[in-house]
Amino acid sequence: MKGIIFTEFLELVEEKFGLEMVDTIIKSSELKSNGVYTGVGTYSFGEMVQLLGNLSKETAIAPDDLLYVFAEHLFATLATNYPGLMNTYSDPMDLLSSIESHIHVEVRKIYSDAELPTFTVISRSDSELVMDYQSSRALYSLGHGLMQQTFNHFDQSADISYQKLKDDGTKVRFTIRKK
Ligand code: HEM
Repeated sequence: MKGIIFTEFLELVEEKFGLEMVDTIIKSSELKSNGVYTGVGTYSFGEMVQLLGNLSKETAIAPDDLLYVFAEHLFATLATNYPGLMNTYSDPMDLLSSIESHIHVEVRKIYSDAELPTFTVISRSDSELVMDYQSSRALYSLGHGLMQQTFNHFDQSADISYQKLKDDGTKVRFTIRKK
């Protein structure tokens, strides 16, 4: 997993829960990196699983809810760091249906070792987009939050529901309805 995800995650933890919480979750995890991350580095996904799990334990907030909130913070950083990618779009439905064919393709050019999910568009109309998320990392709640933020970014709103196609969350169907 890319360092930018870790640095943004720890920044969010500091912002919402304080620097002590950052220390606590790093100390209670077994991290090869010792909790020191650089934006361009690559680290084991297992480190994120531990940090997220320990934050969940400390705060009594479910990991999926923490990921959803994290998405808000992460989206703002992605939009700032990659304005060229965001500015290609004027419509959130267009952006979301192009993650697989454009956005993450560009991300892969920047970070050849990025571990990205797969999004498959199942159906698309003016008001509804159905797409399947697939990833061994089961970060569908992060995806859910990023989708919601995509709508906020364009000052639009949507009802976004999902259904797990696999119980472990490695395959999830999203239904996005423009409001
Ligand atoms: C992961 C970039 C938009 C869904 C990632 C990663 C990067 C990235 C760098 C981490 C890869 C790694 O750690 O190895 C971007 C950029 C975007 C963008 C630059 C826009 C300019 C989106 C949007 C969604 C999305 C709109 C909404 C569904 C995800 C998910 C992951 C991810 C769910 C986690 C990895 C996984 O589930 O396996 N993205 N992304 N991304 N991205 Fe994007």
